[in-house]
Amino acid sequence: MPSPASTSRARVAVLVSGGGTNLQALLDADLGGDVVLVVSDAPGAGGLARAEAAGVETAVVRLADHPDRPAWDGALADAVAAAAPDLVVLAGFMRILGPAFVRRFRILNVHPSLLPAFAGTRAVEEALAWGVTLTGCTVHFVDEEVDHGPIVGQEAVAVLPDDSPATLHERIKTVEHRLLVRCVTLACQGRLAVRGRHVEIEP
Ligand code: GRF
Repeated sequence: MPSPASTSRARVAVLVSGGGTNLQALLDADLGGDVVLVVSDAPGAGGLARAEAAGVETAVVRLADHPDRPAWDGALADAVAAAAPDLVVLAGFMRILGPAFVRRFRILNVHPSLLPAFAGTRAVEEALAWGVTLTGCTVHFVDEEVDHGPIVGQEAVAVLPDDSPATLHERIKTVEHRLLVRCVTLACQGRLAVRGRHVEIEP
């Protein structure tokens, strides 16, 4: 049972598919809320081990265990809803969520480009191929289109002449960690107001 003092703190569920360095940044930060659940679609996701090490409850909901995407989406939504989150954070969650999931929760996503440039799963590779000299990262609310919802925050990262996808992504991730912590903290504090495509930060 949560203590009386903790009931006013925002409850955060985090979805991960991979290594979970963004999750780790959230676990290490003072968010003004608590990461209460980490869910993955991939049983081997490094993010699950990070959650377990931090004593946070975990769940795995695999697409392969469900007859179709809507069934998986519903099972994922039920697993997340069990934690009664005020906020869901996609921190390197590599699957597209269906409308039933998206409508049910308030969701933030972190993406490794300056949206609307380079949406999708190959954002870093595409930025390099395009020859941009600046890319970066975006934290945005999730709507029913991929990498599309209202933007909470962005930070730029310079592309260096010798960058590979791996070196550029590592520098972007370092910036993502602080941007995501800042945006999730604002959400936990109830300070993000969405007006159309615009997100206002309230005092
Ligand atoms: C991050 O670059 C995030 O923007 C993207 O996937 C990556 C996840 O990295 N969606 P990690 O698992 O948090 O280390």
